[in-house]
Amino acid sequence: MVPVTGGTTGKALYAIHCAECHGVDPSRGKNDIYEAVDPRETREAINENEGGMGILSFLTDAELQAIAAYVRNPN
Ligand code: HEC
Repeated sequence: MVPVTGGTTGKALYAIHCAECHGVDPSRGKNDIYEAVDPRETREAINENEGGMGILSFLTDAELQAIAAYVRNPN
């Protein structure tokens, strides 16, 4: 598996999979996106199909971690 290290990758993943519902700028906190700083929260939301997020169940833990790193520091 290719290691995912956040930064650009997390940003791209966020833009593709999250921005539609959580806004282009995660620092605005739309729909509680700040909780995504902990990838386990995102996994839970996916498992519980919160807000229709169940469609994202294909995302790997590494990808959720990369997104978490981006949400922590979007700039
Ligand atoms: C189809 C729309 C949609 C997409 C796509 C989506 N979300 Fe969400 N998400 C929501 C909504 C709506 C809520 C708020 C649910 C609520 O308050 O009950 C939410 C809530 C959350 C929460 C808070 C969970 C909690 O326990 O309150 C996190 C974390 C989260 N989303 C992360 C993400 C991440 C990261 C992505 C991209 C990988 C993403 N979401 C993609 C709609 C979406």
